[in-house]
Amino acid sequence: MQGLLFVASCCGYNTEGFNARDILERKINEVSLSDDKDAFYVADLGDIVKKHLRWHRALPRITPFYAVKCNDEKAVVMTLAAMGAGFDCASKNEIQMVQSLGIPVEKIIYANPCKQASQIKYAAAHGVQLMTFDSEVELVKVARCHPEAKLVVRIATDDSKAVCRLSVKFGATLKTCRLLLERAKELKIDVIGVSFHVGSGCTDAQIFTQTIADARLVFDMGAEYGFNMHLLDIGGGFPGSDDGKFKFEEFAAVINPALDRYFPADSGIKVISEPGRFYVASAFTLAVNIIAKKLVFNEQAGSDDEEDGSDEGTFMYYVNDGVYGSFNCILFDHAHVMPVLLKRQKSDEKLYSNSIWGPTCDGLDRIVECCNLPELQVGDWMVFENMGAYTLAAASTFNGFQRPQIHYVMSRPTWQLIQQIKEDVHLPEADSHNAGGTVLPSCAWESGQELLSSSCTSARVSLNYCMEFLNQPVDN
Ligand SMILES: Cc1ncc(COP(=O)(O)O)c(C=O)c1O
Repeated sequence: MQGLLFVASCCGYNTEGFNARDILERKINEVSLSDDKDAFYVADLGDIVKKHLRWHRALPRITPFYAVKCNDEKAVVMTLAAMGAGFDCASKNEIQMVQSLGIPVEKIIYANPCKQASQIKYAAAHGVQLMTFDSEVELVKVARCHPEAKLVVRIATDDSKAVCRLSVKFGATLKTCRLLLERAKELKIDVIGVSFHVGSGCTDAQIFTQTIADARLVFDMGAEYGFNMHLLDIGGGFPGSDDGKFKFEEFAAVINPALDRYFPADSGIKVISEPGRFYVASAFTLAVNIIAKKLVFNEQAGSDDEEDGSDEGTFMYYVNDGVYGSFNCILFDHAHVMPVLLKRQKSDEKLYSNSIWGPTCDGLDRIVECCNLPELQVGDWMVFENMGAYTLAAASTFNGFQRPQIHYVMSRPTWQLIQQIKEDVHLPEADSHNAGGTVLPSCAWESGQELLSSSCTSARVSLNYCMEFLNQPVDN
């Protein structure tokens, strides 16, 4: 992790707040003086804190286990850990990473229904008991590699309207669940609950109601086989920003009554969830620089444009991050991205047709097929918002292009709030060696020029402040 840019009075911003966009522009001004105009991120950890508070307000019965796969930056994990979140890990490496940051085993679910045997053994050796399954073969493997495991059966959902479908690959039908429970009994494996995922980028909140009802049936089946089921995991699928059609609170308004109906609070069932996108999408903003430019004309024979001389051409802009890097979300996450320009547009400014391309030598590396922008020059910047989910985590260095640097920012009030919450949840200290110096954002200037840890750790905020924080966004 790069150093944390602590944004508050110490940086010339008042403590009332700051805007991540201001930081980005400042960074661009700094970088623009040099030749190395590399792409970079500004990540507002305060946005993640606000998401967490928003989660608790909307879904008070559900403990989030952040899906590390969505964005495995240590600063993200540490911020969420400090606020008491749990973690959904998909592999040995994710388990290793979160454990190296001091996360206790009770806060980890190994939520991959099809695991390599050696990785199940790794979980066993490191005390991780909670894991999902959806097949008989997995049960047999777990019985052999980790007989003490506490299993959660993953059920299939109707995710036909989700942006990224998951039930095409995972999840048992209700009929199969009965067979699995029977087999688990024979193998003496403890099944303690049910999990599901409605698909990432869910567009129909009612699927939660339907699947929570299905989960109830599986709990009842489990009771028939003598299992004491007490954990419901409702997965992920929540929106990552408020820009889209579907709002997080609208999902919550459907989920809460479904839980009250099928798993009332006095049933003693613990409810967890595995949000990924929700927490990180809006916190990360990416700035890319235009490295090359071309004007191309529609040279297709017989084109009408050519005949009447109206073909103004299309600008092709080449920028320094692409689909093999952060914009892999276009291929893997079905994302549609649009740039935001820093220069204020004049109302009468002429717009041109454009396409935007990544830096590699591959023709597939196209970020935007067509959009209208004023004419830009090599060296100008483009900004892409909501770039925190399923971007960096799957970015490659194909053609030798490095992943962009990340500049973390957090306002002083947010940092103080985290310290307060961190104390309340008694988070163990991270193993600073393994954490690679990325322990929870220290109150520091970027690059560690001025460390203010002692004065900051002595800061105290009342819990009432959390409520103020919720009602009145501090950072924006
Ligand atoms: C098992 C599991 N849990 C949680 C998530 C996170 O989903 P989302 O980012 O939609 O919240 C995923 C995403 O693929 C997943 O596979």
